Amino acid sequence: MEISSILYSMLCMLAFVVFFLFLIHSLISKLFFTPSSPKLPLPPGSLGWPYVGETFQLYSQNPNVFFASKQKRFGSIFKTHILGCPCVMISSPEAAKFVLVTRSHLFKPTFPASKERMLGKQAIFFHQGDYHAKLRKLVLRAFMPEAIRSIVPDIESIAKDSLQSWEGRLVNTFQEMKTFTFNVALLSIFGKDEILYREDLKRCYYILEKGYNSMPINLPGTLFHKSMKARKELAQILAKIISTRRQRKQVEDHKDLLGSFMGDKEGLTDQQIADNVIGVIFAARDTTASVLTWIVKYLGENPSVLQAVTEEQEAIMRTKEEEEGDDEGNQKALSWSDTKKMPMTSRVIQETLRVASILSFTFREAVEDVEYEGQLKKLK
Ligand code: HEM
Repeated sequence: MEISSILYSMLCMLAFVVFFLFLIHSLISKLFFTPSSPKLPLPPGSLGWPYVGETFQLYSQNPNVFFASKQKRFGSIFKTHILGCPCVMISSPEAAKFVLVTRSHLFKPTFPASKERMLGKQAIFFHQGDYHAKLRKLVLRAFMPEAIRSIVPDIESIAKDSLQSWEGRLVNTFQEMKTFTFNVALLSIFGKDEILYREDLKRCYYILEKGYNSMPINLPGTLFHKSMKARKELAQILAKIISTRRQRKQVEDHKDLLGSFMGDKEGLTDQQIADNVIGVIFAARDTTASVLTWIVKYLGENPSVLQAVTEEQEAIMRTKEEEEGDDEGNQKALSWSDTKKMPMTSRVIQETLRVASILSFTFREAVEDVEYEGQLKKLK
């Protein structure tokens, strides 16, 4: 899928889907107060245990159960304490619009400290201004049609391998989609060249992601410690790949994401590149795997739509069979132009992006004291 349509869908989701938002703040006492009204109360809710707060309640179960029970008890705005951060959680479209659109200047992107350390401080998510705009451009250009059209056959081959590996097995759809998405992510980031490093990249990233929602306690034996070790190793592998490309003077030849980062005129440092490569895997993987899982579920529930999608795909397969294959008699691979002949499939993807809840919550930090439209009175 083109990144422009993905980003468009993200915006639509932000605008239309009811979603949860953490307003992380280093000092919750600053939140929801204005200098002129110093005695305004914080929203209702609980800060839980010292330091750990309510982290375990959130992450030891389906997060939606945590949100639903809090919402039922306290309403759509409540305070809590997650991953070492006292914060306020909002869950109404009006409040989301306030934070993301009308008063967005009062908030900046952020993540809990543990996630920031794992992704890396130079990743796009923690920045605004010129550096952020530059990174956005570099990411976008690696996912434009000109950049990805040539890898369609390779994506098809990854999909076929996945399907084959499911033969005769009971599979967990989301886990399998995560594996598929990870393989496609590596292909779009490194192209086909870095096949040598695939298994190491995978091993390190899988350890790293286990710690994404851990408390930032860097002591031997903790999940956070193991993740930080894996992250270090990941950065070393990336440094090796970057240096090999530089030695071979191959920077400009690559249309993949790494090539886009390395081709930046002003030059990104190795650390900036590593943080953003890890950042993009983080941004792309679970989100895309989740959409794919929702698609499977919705198709299963709507046999007539499944039938229409199947017929559309089979028609493309038939034309491929009729086309001349390669010298060894292999059938022609799926091409970029084939993907343009899938109106029904595309509509299923678009509709899934519209109705499914993919990102349960995201984070912002208040840059100054914020009072939310007189709601404080109601919250007393
Ligand atoms: C359908 C799947 C996806 C969904 C639902 C989704 C959703 C989102 C949302 C809601 C945000 C904004 C978060 C915030 O502002 O706090 C975001 C940011 C981002 N996403 Fe995605 N995403 C998806 C797939 C991808 C993919 C495949 C990539 C790979 C390139 C990607 C890269 C990014 C990046 C780099 C950002 C940060 C943008 C910025 O700071 O300007 N996402 N995504």
